[in-house]
Amino acid sequence: MVKVSKLYEDRYGQSSKLDFSKMIIPDLLESIISRASIRKFSDKPISKELLTLLLTAAQSAPSKSNLQQYSILIMQDKMLKLKVGELIGETKWALSSPVFLLFLADIRRNMKVTKEKGYEYKNNNVDTFMNAVIDASLSMQSLICAAEASGLGVCPISMIRNIIDEIKILCKLPKGVFPIAGLAIGWPAEKAPVSIRMPQSITIHNDYYNEEHLNVKINDYDERVYKIAPITDKKQRHVNIYGVSEKGTWSENVARQLSVPERNDFRKWLKSHGFKLE
Ligand SMILES: Cc1cc2nc3c(=O)[nH]c(=O)nc-3n(C[C@H](O)[C@H](O)[C@H](O)COP(=O)(O)O)c2cc1C
Repeated sequence: MVKVSKLYEDRYGQSSKLDFSKMIIPDLLESIISRASIRKFSDKPISKELLTLLLTAAQSAPSKSNLQQYSILIMQDKMLKLKVGELIGETKWALSSPVFLLFLADIRRNMKVTKEKGYEYKNNNVDTFMNAVIDASLSMQSLICAAEASGLGVCPISMIRNIIDEIKILCKLPKGVFPIAGLAIGWPAEKAPVSIRMPQSITIHNDYYNEEHLNVKINDYDERVYKIAPITDKKQRHVNIYGVSEKGTWSENVARQLSVPERNDFRKWLKSHGFKLE
């Protein structure tokens, strides 16, 4: 039987003061806590039946007012996957997974429904945009949980948004529909390490937002991660601008990443693609 305290320790790189010893947890909870992104897959296919159930899990996620403002595109065509793989550069590996999905925020369908029923659509705004992104994200996460509980490995791919114009054309995405992320899915051909997360003392707030001693807590977290899984020179961000950091810590990498704008013209792109963001 799985030791719950070990699951906790692996996730946070430190033990808890709580006594988990009497806890028996469902397999799904173990799967969720012990997961890690997988970037190497075997050639073994995923059956149509299993994929259909995974998509059913995706559609079982909660949805804002049950508006279901998302779609999922299964990239099946070999030539299409090859083409996207060529375009996406170093993330090419993701397209060689047995199944590659695009999770799409989709405000288009309900615009049509509204019009079809003879009403005027008056919700092309930031709130609807956000609800559509949340719907798509929750459906992706539901599918991730289902896939990982079934023994599959996955990796979300936001790099897809770096080639969003090409994806738009290749996948014929109409206005009001855009990919929040791709998802590579397959049977794992690697054992990936569990990534150590920030302690609950940083991310969980009781009754009010509390930033007390944040620097100290982040330093502690950095040291813990650095001891177990330092960020290698190769994985450090923007080495071409800042050089190799002496100490590959989480916060150094975050700061470096966020000091350089990423996809800065995305708002403009969305506006040109049917999202008014009013
Ligand atoms: C929205 C989203 C987009 C992501 N995009 C990529 C990506 O383009 N390439 C990649 O290798 N990993 C990508 N990831 C995976 C993250 O790098 C990974 O979740 C993170 O490093 C934590 O590791 P873990 O999933 O193993 O816990 C993405 C994750 C999310 C949630």
